[in-house]
Amino acid sequence: GSQPVDNTAGETAGSEQGAVEKTTYIIGIDGEYPPYASIDKEGKVTGFDVESAKWVAENQGFEVEFQPLAWDGIIPALLAGKIDMVYSGMTITPDRLEKVNFTTPYLKVDQGVAFHNDSDLTLDDFKAGKAVVGAQRGTTGSIWVEKNLIETELITEDQLKYYDNFPSVITDLQNKRIDAAIYDVPSLAAAIEEKPIEIRGQIDTGEVYGVAIRKDDTELLEKMNDGINNLMDDPAWQVLLEKYSLV
Ligand code: ARG
Repeated sequence: GSQPVDNTAGETAGSEQGAVEKTTYIIGIDGEYPPYASIDKEGKVTGFDVESAKWVAENQGFEVEFQPLAWDGIIPALLAGKIDMVYSGMTITPDRLEKVNFTTPYLKVDQGVAFHNDSDLTLDDFKAGKAVVGAQRGTTGSIWVEKNLIETELITEDQLKYYDNFPSVITDLQNKRIDAAIYDVPSLAAAIEEKPIEIRGQIDTGEVYGVAIRKDDTELLEKMNDGINNLMDDPAWQVLLEKYSLV
């Protein structure tokens, strides 16, 4: 589905007499991206980024709605004006900076590499090109493999399998159709919970997350920077980090 998810159900925003209509911004997310953004069985949007976005919205006096989208098409959707920002664990990269602005960084992550429990492969084997790896299309994990294993000819192109969402990478790894999976460590850890899969090492990319906003939308960029800085200075930040096991 690609309809905006109603996250205001049960709230009474704007219902008081004389209340001023607040601006609503549409936030693009990948709905299968715990612990940052995910949609539960009742259709409720939750996660670290989702709660952060709501806090920032409250702090800055606007409303937000969440729009789940395919990750690979999320920047095009932003540029086309279908959404107002991407707040979904997006790494600030030079390529993306050519197209969009990013807010101040709010989290740092590395890439993790996971294998089936039955496999003998190690992180070094993976780096030496001995694995068929699965990655979500258009992520920094897939880009790492392209730059460091394909361009250096350690693996052939068919040793990297692309997927539209990360849960299907994990399904294929569980069924041994691929040897390894690469993804942002916290999301990889969340995805393999209770599965016969383990993380056997990480690649210290030191990448940082920011919220992506159209370059012409400087007003929103200012509000988001202000709100994110306020959030990171507030005790709520630590509470959120702990709630989503990010500390
Ligand atoms: N941080 C990585 C990137 O920017 C992975 C993000 C995946 N995010 C998501 N919502 N699926 O490419």
